[in-house]
Amino acid sequence: MSEILTIAMPKGRIFEEAAELLRKAEYKLPPEFDESRKLIIDVPNENIRFILAKPMDVATYVEHGVADVGIAGKDVMLEEDRDVYEVLDLKISACHLAVAGLPNATLTDVAPKVATKYPKVASSYFREQGEQVEIIKLNGSIELAPLIGLADRIVDIVSTGQTLKENGLVELEHICDITSRLIVNPVSYRMKDQVIDELVERLSKVIGG
Ligand code: PRP
Repeated sequence: MSEILTIAMPKGRIFEEAAELLRKAEYKLPPEFDESRKLIIDVPNENIRFILAKPMDVATYVEHGVADVGIAGKDVMLEEDRDVYEVLDLKISACHLAVAGLPNATLTDVAPKVATKYPKVASSYFREQGEQVEIIKLNGSIELAPLIGLADRIVDIVSTGQTLKENGLVELEHICDITSRLIVNPVSYRMKDQVIDELVERLSKVIGG
């Protein structure tokens, strides 16, 4: 009997697409998998234990080895410098990182204020552009910042564009495309190579299909 594989799954909007991909790859997940509020879900018939984490924390669990593999957005991988292997682009949860703001906003400041959940990505982007900005770290509802005068611009994920639209904001610059990735703990990759290779192989076959 093969060893148990622990997979860190992101709660929230990536979860559904990730679960669908695993099912397409013929992992038999119970129906209650999708509705449960449990944070640890064992699927004994597949020798898999799932842990459900905040998307931003998935790479932390994998880096510390309490999860062997995880599903994490490229946005998180760019922001968090984690010691994990990124082995597969799952091509799910496609979105992009963008600079946005109020239309026709005049930037008089020497260093405009930029609100974001991604201070590292935003800093390096503006550095590359040769622009000096002041970064303000927020944890969510980033679109609020320009509306109430906390920031001149934001750097955030745009998916459908609905949040920007409904808040009267416009996209100003496209930073990079984002999809979810399969990440692996380096030690697990050596110790559980067979089950991880099988997971990668089965997922590879159904990606984008
Ligand atoms: C994300 C992102 C935007 C929104 C974009 O926020 O930060 O706010 O989704 O999606 P859209 O382009 O489809 O409207 P999320 O819902 O994850 O919550 P948060 O604001 O708390 O980060």
